[in-house]
Amino acid sequence: NAMFSWQRTAYHFQPQKNWMNDPDGPLFHKGWYHLFYQYNPDSAVWGNITWGHAVSKDLIHWLYLPFALVPDQWYDIGGVWTGSATILPDGKIIMLYTGDTYNSVQVQNLAYPANPSDPLLLDWVKYPNNPVLTPPSGIYPDEFRDPTTAWTGPPGTWRIMIGSTVNKAGVALVFQTTDFENYTLLDGYLHSVPGTGMWECVDFYPVATNGSVGLDNSEGGPGTKHVLKASLDDKKYDVYALGTYDPVANKWTPDNPEEDVGIGLRVDYGKYYASKTFFDPVQRRRILFGWINETDTQSDDLEKGWASVQTIPRTVLFDNKTGTNIVQWPVEEVKSLRLNGMVFEEVVVGPGEIVQLDVGSATQLDITAEFETEYLESNSTDDFSGCGAGAIDRSTYGPFGLLVIADQSLSELTPVYFRPSNTTNGTYFCADESRSSLAPDVTKAVYGGKVPVLDGENLSMRLLVDHSVVESFAQGGRTVITSRIYPTEAIYAAARLFLFNNATGITIKATLTVWQVNSAFIHPFPLDQIEKYSS
Ligand code: FRU
Repeated sequence: NAMFSWQRTAYHFQPQKNWMNDPDGPLFHKGWYHLFYQYNPDSAVWGNITWGHAVSKDLIHWLYLPFALVPDQWYDIGGVWTGSATILPDGKIIMLYTGDTYNSVQVQNLAYPANPSDPLLLDWVKYPNNPVLTPPSGIYPDEFRDPTTAWTGPPGTWRIMIGSTVNKAGVALVFQTTDFENYTLLDGYLHSVPGTGMWECVDFYPVATNGSVGLDNSEGGPGTKHVLKASLDDKKYDVYALGTYDPVANKWTPDNPEEDVGIGLRVDYGKYYASKTFFDPVQRRRILFGWINETDTQSDDLEKGWASVQTIPRTVLFDNKTGTNIVQWPVEEVKSLRLNGMVFEEVVVGPGEIVQLDVGSATQLDITAEFETEYLESNSTDDFSGCGAGAIDRSTYGPFGLLVIADQSLSELTPVYFRPSNTTNGTYFCADESRSSLAPDVTKAVYGGKVPVLDGENLSMRLLVDHSVVESFAQGGRTVITSRIYPTEAIYAAARLFLFNNATGITIKATLTVWQVNSAFIHPFPLDQIEKYSS
């Protein structure tokens, strides 16, 4: 299975082989971060869904553990699907997940660690009276999945959310429980948005409006807003909106109805889905995982023997500068992988120019770049909006940025760039994958979204480059794009990094730091060590 082996990532989480999809039940317990994930033990395509399990001390250096949950009961024989963890005040761990039953009904099940004092949480017990929740009336049996982490309701109660769809609207259902075994459906929907279809993998969490720290799921009230996030089954991307939660009315109201869930902001504008957050009590931060799916063919995945990657975990905060969005940023710990940093100061790139940055091999990089622009002349009307046809689409003010995973002859390249304009269209942040691979059967999209830029701010970006994955963050993480690309030439030592300016009317001055990034050497937890760490 050496086919495309250079496309395996070096510091992103991915299993050693076979298919992975959603992150599940992330949690922190007795010194370890735990990540579970949708996994097919038998093949590189979706099926036989089982919970893979890995632990890490720092969210970067993961160790694979034996499977946590396997499909072996009538209520999950079709698959142990996505779920979330809740840590109760006494430290007890509650895991809720969707089971696909023998006859394809989606039900919610309860599981808990067999030995809560085991830091590695190796053994999981399924509650004997599963399922704890079946589809309520008015909900189709196959549109009821992916329970959230619980938050507190009135004294003694907990609430969870499950996504569904009714008459093509996406809906969020809230259930209340005292014991996680018996539930009542609260009246109405917490929220619904017409035309947005099935809401998979809903997430619901508070953010502090001063943008300082992450909050536990049960925090709220003054000084907070709530993020409602859904994964749109129809569109295959993740959307969110900021709003206000009224626990008494069981309603969440978006700050801006024109940017409601599914018609406004995306969590990530690239190849990214089924994301899930959890609260890290140690560092008081909210951390986001997301699934990077493939854009090649199933037969390629089968041939290479693996499919999918998880993003580097990201901290999530409310953006108190704009007040309109969250900011996502790779967890601090990824910096521990940085090797030699190379500084490039005020590199001038004129209209139509490309400048190579001599960084050696450019397959594992962490890049920060800031751009100043000097206006030369306007010779277009700049009515351009969005990312257009990609980096070849020229106007007065853009595009400009970086060419990553490029080979020397530029037969393969992925431009990640800004596209400002002097119109009300604002500035776009884009990734153009149209020339990212010479391989014929891969999707090569142009991705991107608008990025808020405040008066006096320079444009800036941070990029994490890892062989076949590029995570790109604009303006401190206001807009994010994950690229999944399939280089055939721009691999290992042949990969290069360039600056480009394809604007017609500006010169750019770029200041960058480029670090080589070490591998995370993700590997199985050594069998002879498991006993020592587990109790
Ligand atoms: C999202 C999803 C979830 C489901 C799981 C099954 O990718 O479809 O809704 O629980 O994957 O693997």
